[in-house]
Amino acid sequence: MTADISRFIRTNLHLQLAPLLPELKLYLAHPGSGLSRLELDETPYWAYLWPGGALLARYFLDKPQTVHGKSVLDIGAGGGVVALAAAKAGARRVIANDIDANAVAATALNAQANGLQMETRCGDVLDGDVPDADLIVIGDLFYHADVSIRLKAFASRCLVAGKTVLTGDIGRAHLPRERLELIVEYDVPDFGDRPDTAMRNGGVYRFTR
Ligand SMILES: C[S@@+](CC[C@H](N)C(=O)[O-])C[C@H]1O[C@@H](n2cnc3c(N)ncnc32)[C@H](O)[C@@H]1O
Repeated sequence: MTADISRFIRTNLHLQLAPLLPELKLYLAHPGSGLSRLELDETPYWAYLWPGGALLARYFLDKPQTVHGKSVLDIGAGGGVVALAAAKAGARRVIANDIDANAVAATALNAQANGLQMETRCGDVLDGDVPDADLIVIGDLFYHADVSIRLKAFASRCLVAGKTVLTGDIGRAHLPRERLELIVEYDVPDFGDRPDTAMRNGGVYRFTR
């Protein structure tokens, strides 16, 4: 299946400079991509750039010292934009994680297209051991109540273990603002917005206990 999905992505998605992130190329869906032909069980989040991920990626590229020399775990990597930016900004080790095997395949292709190295890990790590990474990053994952509850518990365990947990978000319904400290704000497009739609204001946040 990985070979099939990789071939599909190369053939049907456009490798293009990412909005807000001219330093990175991503395979992105367009109206002619025909994603429905894949008959997927999961929504193909990996075929789009999500604003929360774009925010974190912009932050890492603007402030490479935040990731330089660190090990970084990108939870819910989708097409891997946050992991790509971390690698580009000089992270020592980057792991891109997603529950969707197609996302992992898309991330691997995007890493290759940008000449960047990273590991990929398919599966759900939220209830497992605290990960072996200095920095845990979460781009645009607070759109679902259950996942938000699990992410909060996961972040708490990571903080107790001395990790830093960052998220990028434009204010999704289940963003736990009470646990977050704003680091930086940017205006970003949301992926479904028409070109004449106003940009969304979003932030990069640090989790607190
Ligand atoms: C909205 S997309 C964001 C993708 C990427 N971070 C970005 O900003 O472009 C959310 C991603 O999280 C993944 N996801 C959902 N629940 C997850 C979980 N428990 N563990 C890992 N990934 C998860 C989905 O498969 C999807 O690829």
